Amino acid sequence: MGILDIIKKRRSIRKYLSKEIPLELILKLKEALIWAPSAGNLQSRKFYFVTNGEIRFDLAKAAFDQQFLVEAPLVVVACADLEASSVKYSGKGKELYAIVDTSLSVQNMMLVAYEAGLGTCWVGGFEEYKVKEILDLPDKLRPIALVPVGYPAEKIDPPTRVKIHDAIKDIP
Ligand SMILES: Cc1cc2nc3c(=O)[nH]c(=O)nc-3n(C[C@H](O)[C@H](O)[C@H](O)COP(=O)(O)O)c2cc1C
Repeated sequence: MGILDIIKKRRSIRKYLSKEIPLELILKLKEALIWAPSAGNLQSRKFYFVTNGEIRFDLAKAAFDQQFLVEAPLVVVACADLEASSVKYSGKGKELYAIVDTSLSVQNMMLVAYEAGLGTCWVGGFEEYKVKEILDLPDKLRPIALVPVGYPAEKIDPPTRVKIHDAIKDIP
């Protein structure tokens, strides 16, 4: 499958099988995370790979009971490192670049996961202070996304997208 097909076919998955993810696939996901671009190559991001069931349960509670976070065998908690980027880029580093760096990593990971037959979903609906408490995150880390990863137990029809000409203006 070419990269555009992977981009178009990936769907947010909210039902998972209780099947383990092989270690070599987990390693691929980690590689996808660290090879994303970042502002000044500062890589202002950190990731927590949570397989512990009790912690996933707590994360689901912090995410307004989005139970598929418990179903999936792995939840990746993606955090922006607000200090790393602010050293060079001050306010913009902290408020924008660290979040962009983190998001690019997550998208990389979601695409590689899809190519490997795994489902993912960006979960942004959660109470940040609760996630920080659950994982005992240092102040400099802001959780941006909780990403369940696992084998899909559902097939999703493609949702709508805006027309290319509504989103993009050509300036010849
Ligand atoms: C910033 C952000 C926050 C999101 N938060 C949630 C969420 O809390 N729960 C959820 O089920 N999906 C969440 N999603 C997934 C979107 O609902 C999904 O990407 C969108 O409906 C398009 O579907 P697709 O990913 O299958 O193309 C979020 C996506 C983004 C980018």
